[in-house]
Amino acid sequence: MALYPTKRLRRLRYNPIIRNMIRETTLTKDDFIYPLFVIPGKNIKREVKSMPGNYQMSVDEIVKECKKIYSLGIPAIILFGIPDHKDEVGSGAYDSNGIIQQAVKAIKKEVKDLLIITDVCLCEYTSHGHCGVLGGEEILNDETVELLVKESISHVEAGADIIAPSDMMDGRIGAIRKALDGKGFYKIPILSYAAKYASGYYGPFREAAESTPAFGDRRSHQMDPGNSMEAMREIEEDIEEGADIIMVKPAGPYLDVIYQAKQKFGMPTAAYQVSGEFAMIKAAGKNGWIDEERIMMESLTAIKRAGADMILTYFAKDAAKYLDRTNK
Ligand code: PBG
Ligand code: ZN
Repeated sequence: MALYPTKRLRRLRYNPIIRNMIRETTLTKDDFIYPLFVIPGKNIKREVKSMPGNYQMSVDEIVKECKKIYSLGIPAIILFGIPDHKDEVGSGAYDSNGIIQQAVKAIKKEVKDLLIITDVCLCEYTSHGHCGVLGGEEILNDETVELLVKESISHVEAGADIIAPSDMMDGRIGAIRKALDGKGFYKIPILSYAAKYASGYYGPFREAAESTPAFGDRRSHQMDPGNSMEAMREIEEDIEEGADIIMVKPAGPYLDVIYQAKQKFGMPTAAYQVSGEFAMIKAAGKNGWIDEERIMMESLTAIKRAGADMILTYFAKDAAKYLDRTNK
């Protein structure tokens, strides 16, 4: 094998044209899914303080925003709903006239080619802010799964293109798949939040989604940050139950999990660059401590390099504009 000085890896780095030709990982707009928060009312567009450039929006404003997103070339959104009324069993989640259902119908009517993914969980809809039904202080698994099934069906009936369960209850993918098929919705894919960690990086999201739990935390269903083999078991179970796309969340701090998942299962793989990852980059950028745009692109490239085929990111619009500007 040739060694230095015959072999020089820098040879391919001197010229930007060559660098572009040999780049292994490139981002395109098709990689991005943009998260949106919908609230009741009219003419409301309220910025989330810890997530500059991201808003809680009423249905009419969401529709306007979706037109912009579509015209930027971003193919898909994921919707989170904040209902006007919350109760013990999160009934707003599966109300046929609930906030998500209204938003999905309105967007489908006005921006029909934008792919709509809906987040399926109860925490935005329960008065206690937990992801499921409570028995005392415990989140009851099987009772919760029944409600997640109702929520999923109701989203699809409103027109959702893909269902994304984010709750981490055992057995929900199988139950949702069976119920969707039973209703004739066999063409609707499930994007499973398969390996979702109990993470401090969700802080800003909980302000945006108004879903902070009233007591306790989510450690009895979301995963322990120290575990990666367990993540493989979670993912395997969801694939067996019928998940079409698997997701790892958060993304940046869990690149090893994304990598392992892609290597092991070869499934279409999504990664969620969550609110805290976004907020940290924004904040440091605003302070002039880092070059925000550069780190935006570097962080997204790293997530894709690890094995993600698609990235849920609050940077989707900025990154799409960057790609347009640099013609990449
Ligand atoms: C709801 C849900 C959460 C996120 C997506 N869906 C928060 C949570 O588990 O508390 C987090 C997204 C983000 O931080 O950007 N189960
Ligand atoms: Zn939840």
